[in-house]
Amino acid sequence: MAAPHDRRILVTSALPYANGHIHLGHLVEYVQTDVFVRFQKLRGHRAIYLCADDTHGTAIMIRARGEGRSERALVAAMREAHLADFDGFQIAFDHYGSTDSDANRRLCDMIWSRLRARGLVVSRDVRQLYDPEAGVFLADRFVKGCCPKCGASDQYGDSCEACGAAYTPADLVEPRSTLSGARPEVRSAEHLFVTLEPLHDFLATWTRSSGAIDPRIANYLAGHFLGEPLRDWDVSRPAPYFGFEIPDAPGHFWYVWFDAPVGYIAATEEWCAARGETLATWWGRGAPNEPPAEIHHFIGKDITYFHTLFWPAMLEAAGLALPTRVRIHGFLTVNGQKMSKSRGTFLLARTYLEHLDPGMLRYFYAAKLSGGIDDVDLDLDEFAAKVNADLVGKVVNLASRTARWLEATGLSAAYPDDGGLFARAAADGAEIAAAYEDCDTARAMRTIMLAADRANAYVDAEQPWKLAKAGPASAARLQDVASVALNLFRQIAVYLAPVLPAFAAQAGALVGGPIRSWDESQRPLTGSPVAPFQPLMKRVEKPHLDALLAAARAEAEREAAARPPTPVPAPAPPPASHSGGPTMTTPPTTGPDSAEPLAAEPLAPECTIDDFTKVDLRVARIVTAEEVPEAKKLLKLTVSFGGDATRTVFAGIKGFHAPESLVGRLVVVVANLAPRQMKFGTSEGMVVAASGAGAPGVYLLSPDSGALPGMRLR
Ligand code: 2FM
Ligand code: ZN
Repeated sequence: MAAPHDRRILVTSALPYANGHIHLGHLVEYVQTDVFVRFQKLRGHRAIYLCADDTHGTAIMIRARGEGRSERALVAAMREAHLADFDGFQIAFDHYGSTDSDANRRLCDMIWSRLRARGLVVSRDVRQLYDPEAGVFLADRFVKGCCPKCGASDQYGDSCEACGAAYTPADLVEPRSTLSGARPEVRSAEHLFVTLEPLHDFLATWTRSSGAIDPRIANYLAGHFLGEPLRDWDVSRPAPYFGFEIPDAPGHFWYVWFDAPVGYIAATEEWCAARGETLATWWGRGAPNEPPAEIHHFIGKDITYFHTLFWPAMLEAAGLALPTRVRIHGFLTVNGQKMSKSRGTFLLARTYLEHLDPGMLRYFYAAKLSGGIDDVDLDLDEFAAKVNADLVGKVVNLASRTARWLEATGLSAAYPDDGGLFARAAADGAEIAAAYEDCDTARAMRTIMLAADRANAYVDAEQPWKLAKAGPASAARLQDVASVALNLFRQIAVYLAPVLPAFAAQAGALVGGPIRSWDESQRPLTGSPVAPFQPLMKRVEKPHLDALLAAARAEAEREAAARPPTPVPAPAPPPASHSGGPTMTTPPTTGPDSAEPLAAEPLAPECTIDDFTKVDLRVARIVTAEEVPEAKKLLKLTVSFGGDATRTVFAGIKGFHAPESLVGRLVVVVANLAPRQMKFGTSEGMVVAASGAGAPGVYLLSPDSGALPGMRLR
């Protein structure tokens, strides 16, 4: 094990696409990564944080076309916008590159030559979907249809969000182009592939035993990909394509997912070049006297297989260093739901920055993230309550009610007796550091806030304001009490510095100077001057949140108005609805919801948790759906709880849902309802749906993506 200061830690976040602005969903990852890197630096390690814009691919080509400018002009403008957003959120990259760089082209070429030399590149004709209206072959993300494995509707062309299967767009059932809405044609074109099967044993071992991957993810990979021969990976696209032309295959371009992760290395190379360092120090496999650097990739769960299968396979084949750790996080929801433009909850980074302090969001995310793949919910009421209670009520409060007594005198010359408070919080440092190291910032924040609670209890008990009123006789005691409080405040600021760098700088300006090292949490300051207190953070009030949401809605409306009329269909096929009635899937966009449903159907009498658990509610997948011609309201469904466990259910949803639109969909079923003999057969359960006053229709419930058939609702 290397001594602490010998660690060299290269850290990356996923490279954001250059075809869109940074939003609060992206920031979960950038904040998580930035906190990790700042923590490592504070501990004295050599950590570098690298990222870049992901610039290539059909999406950018199409967007640039639509905007009447070159791809490079679009990429340059987006880079400026991304950098401003990152800067606003205090995301401190050591270098921010671009996948459209000379370094990246050279490195792709080098890796490609090594793949070729190992005989891992093969070529064959691919029948690929082509959009005859847009005149392009369709990238995976531009085709949607039903998953060939589980039947889920509205899935992208490369992988299924419902069952996790990976496939090619040509496998999709009922595909359509999201560019033009046209039904794609199948055309044949030559593609180049990397054969992964020769690397199968390596990947099976590496995913399980390198320590790079959480064992639960390794199990998932074993179950979904590594249990059968690995398919060749299609890494080229025919022209027209915005990307790098493959030097030994004119007319063919590297697929964006080939050159994107190479961007991690290219960013390192540029960083090295600016400092006279050698790339091999970071991406080489180490020399006898030089242990390899650590490489930590932070990613979202949607791009797991690129980073845990394709990327390590490329690195292994090219003889480069393998990731030490791939750290995977979940998605962001806002108020419990996916961010949505129509609900006004699609929050761009820049919109947030116009209304709220970035430190607040950094803290909230840190308090929510525990290092796992669970989604993070930004419930705005909870956000305000947490920031106000913790940061304003506990941390800032500690300084705001004690610093002024020290402006004239500075801290006491000797650290006063504090009943062991400072020492206790110093001892917490090991646990807080371990939590940061595990990316369990939720645990780190909890431990820090307990220290803040103890510090505030001390101030409450000592009542410095009373000592101040008592005059000169209590002056020495007042200085001691305030010195303890301000030392505890600064100690907390050191612990929070990775999460709240701007706040830590302000705390340092108040007392003790810039915070440079974790060790500063271990010894109290004595005799230091104390600057006049400046307000550090204000409470979040409802009007701030209202203004943020109003701005997000206005932004979404502006964008909708500016968007040229497009034939692109809505992502999900609309369910059949009453003629002239509201579309059943359209949520209200503004204002408080109507109380009509509750008035029309008041809440049922109270029940106990035992009553509730008698009802066994399960996630189920609809595998078949058909009309029951003789019944006015019924559809006959076969639902699956996973494996062979299927049930027949008659559901009163005819007329609201076309049977074919239901196949593949996840619903909620009362699984232990006594079977009921009906005229048309036996119903062995009940599909849960909402209906009531206010809007006609029957609204089926769907779980969040990631839920699996058979899971119980509780
Ligand atoms: O999913 C995405 O947003 C990609 N642009 C991430 C690329 S990460 C890396 F591999 F480059
Ligand atoms: Zn599927």
